[in-house]
Amino acid sequence: MLRPGTVFGGGIVFAALLSAACAQTDKASTAGLPPAPWISRAIPEGKGEVKTQPDGKKMQVRYKRAPFAGVPQDWSDYRTYAYDDTRPAPPVSKAPMTQVKGDPARGRRLFLSRAQGPCTGCHLIPGADVWPAGNIGPDLSTYGDRNLPDEFIFTQLYDSRNFFPHTTMPPWGTTGVFKPEELVHIVAFLKTLKGPVPPEKDPDRNPDTRAKPVGFGDNLDPTNNPAVLLAEGAMAVWSKKGPAGKACADCHAGGPEKSMKEAATRYPKYVKAYQRVMSIEDFLTVHAPETTGLQMLSQSADNLNMTMLVKMQSNGMPLKVDVTSPEAKGAYERGRASFFKRVGQRNHACADCHTKGAGRGSDKFLGGRLLADVEVGLTKHFPLWRTSQGQVWDMRKRMQWCMTPLGMNMLPADAVEYAELELYLTAFDNGKEMSVPGIRH
Ligand code: HEC
Ligand code: HEC
Ligand code: HEC
Repeated sequence: MLRPGTVFGGGIVFAALLSAACAQTDKASTAGLPPAPWISRAIPEGKGEVKTQPDGKKMQVRYKRAPFAGVPQDWSDYRTYAYDDTRPAPPVSKAPMTQVKGDPARGRRLFLSRAQGPCTGCHLIPGADVWPAGNIGPDLSTYGDRNLPDEFIFTQLYDSRNFFPHTTMPPWGTTGVFKPEELVHIVAFLKTLKGPVPPEKDPDRNPDTRAKPVGFGDNLDPTNNPAVLLAEGAMAVWSKKGPAGKACADCHAGGPEKSMKEAATRYPKYVKAYQRVMSIEDFLTVHAPETTGLQMLSQSADNLNMTMLVKMQSNGMPLKVDVTSPEAKGAYERGRASFFKRVGQRNHACADCHTKGAGRGSDKFLGGRLLADVEVGLTKHFPLWRTSQGQVWDMRKRMQWCMTPLGMNMLPADAVEYAELELYLTAFDNGKEMSVPGIRH
């Protein structure tokens, strides 16, 4: 048995496993096993393809615009959320302290280096140039007063899991972000951090006293949120006949107001016809060409704008995604596992930054950015207008971006792994009112 979307090649082993399992336990297998790999229907920059360049190096194809365009590395060597990626997390490791003399000035530069850390993303240290510092990790302003042995500090930086198995601090040495000799310089710098700390002149410099950012005004006011106009622009596509001779309007009578009312409150959902969980965005990539003949690729303007038009017809209505049917429950559990899975060069999980607790990010600052809590709800305002990008982002682009600076190659925007992760996130919003399009920094 082969499912729609099964990929030949990379997926062949998987498909064979699947059919073997189906032969034995026909019904249970659909609910328990991850769905077959999906052939991406995203625009080329959103497919997450890795290409070998003329010089033999691998490089992932990414969006041409910022912030993706500014990321020059390929992270094929590090594990991802892909269900067929069975590589383990990097094992905890140690290294001897390199015999170089630690230089505190170099150490400070490395501590602030944006290309490598920055350590200031999570730790405060003194200095007017330390801006903006975050507070996921402890304030290190007087760390040197503790007179800890150099080897101990070195090992903690090299791989903090030697002492704290569940730490959110990346294993800097183990995964090669910092070379051992660079860590020696950082150790030398940390030992110079002695109290007393001069009084703070600017309360915004310290993440513990910094004011939390305020919102961006009424998200449904078109003069405030440009995405509202883009969504309304999708009305032209709604009534345009495609190559198959039909328009959306021909089958969905009464306009989007009537025919799409409340529909989006049930998404992401398990769609039987495609045997996978889908968001509205995912659904349109197959439904539009099948019914009208029009392409509506994931991350295309038509897809994003039509998604917003459809979702707006559910504004003010409570979300009610299914997480209890056997298929949805299996997907929810896999999504949950992805949320806690450590991936990429930094060995981060979504949970590091979006759940509460000691050493975790929710309601704290990562650099200058306040981190949102998954339990408060991250989904009900997507797609949204990003004032900093001048662009609409759907949940998938947000996911693709959240993992990029952390050293994970992105998956295709319409990957089933992302859809199931989105289902897990959306379950926290069940009962809360939709408000699309959102507006954020
Ligand atoms: C993503 C957040 C994050 C980043 C980035 C980060 N750390 Fe940490 N760090 C933590 C957390 C959380 C702890 C708390 C203890 C633990 O889990 O190891 C910590 C602990 C520490 C400690 C021990 C503090 C104590 O009170 O004993 C030191 C020293 C340290 N980090 C240095 C660094 C350096 C140097 C860098 C940059 C190379 C860095 N950190 C980057 C999160 C981070
Ligand atoms: C040929 C008829 C036809 C055309 C054309 C068509 N659809 Fe549909 N659409 C359907 C049918 C039938 C369903 C219900 C499928 C089901 O529930 O299994 C549906 C379902 C949907 C749903 C999911 C609704 C829900 O409650 O889950 C959305 C969203 C949707 N269509 C949007 C569109 C858009 C946007 C277009 C134009 C690009 C379009 N459709 C064109 C027939 C059509
Ligand atoms: C190292 C920290 C970090 C990790 C790990 C991380 N994120 Fe984020 N996330 C951020 C930052 C920073 C923002 C932007 C905060 C802001 O500007 O409001 C953000 C924003 C988001 C938002 C938008 C919230 C909103 O209300 O608009 C979503 C959704 C999100 N992240 C999901 C995820 C998912 C899913 C994962 C795992 C695949 C993940 N993040 C992993 C740091 C992280």
